[in-house]
Amino acid sequence: MAKARCSDSYVLAANEAVQLHGGIDITDEHDTGFFMQPARACELNFGDVAHFRERYAQLNGYSTPCVDRGPRARFDPLHQPAVQAKHRPLFARPRATRRLRPVKAMLCKAFGPPESLVLEEQPQKPLGPGQVRIAVHAAGVNFPDVLMIQGKYQFKPPFPFAPGAEVAGQVTEVAPDVTTVKVGERVMAMVGAGGFADEAIAAAVSCMTLPKSMDYTVAAGFSMTYGTSYYALVQRAQMQPGEVLLVHGAAGGVGTAAVDIGKKLGAKIIATGGSDEKLARIAKHYGIEHTINYKTETNWKEKVRAITGGKGADVVYDAVGGELLETSLRCLNWNGRVLVIGFAGGDIPKIPANLVLLKSASLIGVFWGAWLGREPDVNRKNFQTMFEWYEAGALKPIISHTFPLPRAADALNCVINREVVGKCVITTGR
Ligand SMILES: NC(=O)c1ccc[n+]([C@@H]2O[C@H](COP(=O)([O-])OP(=O)(O)OC[C@H]3O[C@@H](n4cnc5c(N)ncnc54)[C@H](OP(=O)(O)O)[C@@H]3O)[C@@H](O)[C@H]2O)c1
Repeated sequence: MAKARCSDSYVLAANEAVQLHGGIDITDEHDTGFFMQPARACELNFGDVAHFRERYAQLNGYSTPCVDRGPRARFDPLHQPAVQAKHRPLFARPRATRRLRPVKAMLCKAFGPPESLVLEEQPQKPLGPGQVRIAVHAAGVNFPDVLMIQGKYQFKPPFPFAPGAEVAGQVTEVAPDVTTVKVGERVMAMVGAGGFADEAIAAAVSCMTLPKSMDYTVAAGFSMTYGTSYYALVQRAQMQPGEVLLVHGAAGGVGTAAVDIGKKLGAKIIATGGSDEKLARIAKHYGIEHTINYKTETNWKEKVRAITGGKGADVVYDAVGGELLETSLRCLNWNGRVLVIGFAGGDIPKIPANLVLLKSASLIGVFWGAWLGREPDVNRKNFQTMFEWYEAGALKPIISHTFPLPRAADALNCVINREVVGKCVITTGR
């Protein structure tokens, strides 16, 4: 360790080497970060030519140093630190010779409760076109993960599978046709399933490069909640500064994101929830003046009227459903908009259409997951804007719980028991 005579050019050369060889499979012993981070690159004595050549060859599975072997001999990072991208195919190592690294994952082998997940190692899968491999540092936990392991979700991956729809980590390999994401980038990505693992495969189009100040834990819980709430408030509701935003289930994942983004957009927030404790926490975190407990406040409609001077809310963000939807339409301002986000409460409400007519109101459906496939460029711009806000300290995601990967069942139970404020995240220990 730390012979520390490496120069920047040798670190660059090593990074180039990692890219040429696909990154992840260089060694079981040292993993991808080995060459990627200058500090860790000091583990190799890049200043010692003979040592570097020998170790580099050893790590890549060559029996003799690469400088002595056929066409590959042309890649000598010590003498060609700036290897051109056009040479990549020449130097790409055949897949068959790659040393595959086992992937640790919390596997669902039969439908059941969270406790039925088992921690096992699986062989690495090869990348398909357009895909990237991510060394997962953290994974967001969502209610659909619970449904998926119970066989109650529309998407049923073949057994065994790891649940986990969103991850954050470092890219370790990209398919040959991928140009938008590079090895070494810190990203967040939606993966559908497979996130509760220390490695995941994602479509390159779903990867977002993280802002510098965002850590992996925050990033793992950001995509779905902030992606949904930004799209809902900006593209769907066209929220204006000074308008009143009523957020139901405001302590939940999409709810906290709606409060956070709504505040940044200049809305006056009224936050509802079913727990005084959770409401107090978000009120303090976001500086919200008005909260309503919809479990204990029997006439919360009147409270909304009172807070708004009799006008009602301009925009309602409803991720809970049930009877909240109809009451929301009854405490809406003229030209009000109700965003139908989800039905966390379990009941899909039916509403009298006259309520929409009376206030010249709009009932607006929001399906972020489907929309981002139709308008990926707009979605990417949304994230760029949110990342700028985050860097400027204007967004404050809440992560109330984190659990290490082997405790994925506890993480899922936390969501089931409505203990989470903001997001619950699983960390892999990378
Ligand atoms: N439309 C879209 O594109 C989109 C995207 C993402 C998520 N969603 C949907 O939005 C909903 C919320 O997602 P989320 O990630 O924010 O979930 P979450 O973190 O679990 O939050 C849900 C919130 O709903 C409240 N709630 C009320 N009744 C509940 C019940 N019976 N069980 C559980 N929670 C209940 C809870 O607040 P209290 O405990 O304070 O009552 C909780 O904080 C889900 O239905 C999800 O499928 C939709």
